[in-house]
Amino acid sequence: MLGSPFLLWLLAVSFLVPRVHPLTPEDFEEGEEDGTLRSPLPAVLCDYDRCRHLQVPCRELQKASPTACLCPGLSSPLQRPSPPRLGEVHVVAEDSSAVVHWCAPSSPVQQYWLLLWEGSGAPQKGPPLNSTIRRAELKGLKPGGTYVVCVVAANSAGESSLPWAGGQGPEGTAGPAFGPCGRLAVPPRPLSLIHAAVGVGTTLALLSCGALVWHFCLRQRCGCPRRAQPEARL
Ligand SMILES: *[C@@H]1O[C@H](CO)[C@@H](O)[C@H](O)[C@H]1NC(C)=O
Repeated sequence: MLGSPFLLWLLAVSFLVPRVHPLTPEDFEEGEEDGTLRSPLPAVLCDYDRCRHLQVPCRELQKASPTACLCPGLSSPLQRPSPPRLGEVHVVAEDSSAVVHWCAPSSPVQQYWLLLWEGSGAPQKGPPLNSTIRRAELKGLKPGGTYVVCVVAANSAGESSLPWAGGQGPEGTAGPAFGPCGRLAVPPRPLSLIHAAVGVGTTLALLSCGALVWHFCLRQRCGCPRRAQPEARL
């Protein structure tokens, strides 16, 4: 009498629980054996990294993938893209260049470009870069210069905004952290440091010579009467 409900409960537990409880590594092993159970659940994320250079858009990965995978959500293509996030900026002092990295926004993007300001000057616009690009090199920077660099994303609805409103220049700020802009400072050339050291050394040497000459001239002028006095006594 008691046996049959218990048996039913045992059956229910043994059949239902492994499919209801959260996925564990054993479930994946089971799932590999009978793949038919798992295929309607495309719980796998596509191999998409918004910060990876030459990253194919996730929608294209999805189309090309033999198994279903999930993409991060994107804003409407009828809206201009959100700003990308500027990542690492690596300055190469030897040839006064910099490599800029960024991450894609959660928006459809057709192209990117970089904007570069030096001090309060007008922005220089870089060439258009296709939507797979996440890294660009800035060449011909001035040694010892400081710049603000911003990355802009664009689609058919417009371009991403910059952290300062109304088209004003960067004015010494690089916007909030994790925004599309950052500062970069190019160190002075090692050669110009040597020049500066030689310059300082030469100046010091000239100053010392000047001081010595001045010192001896003064001594001669003051010494003449002193030397003259003993002569006068003799
Ligand atoms: C994007 O640009 C890169 C580098 O210039 C190039 O290798 C790649 O084929 C381009 N991709 C597309 C989809 O145009």
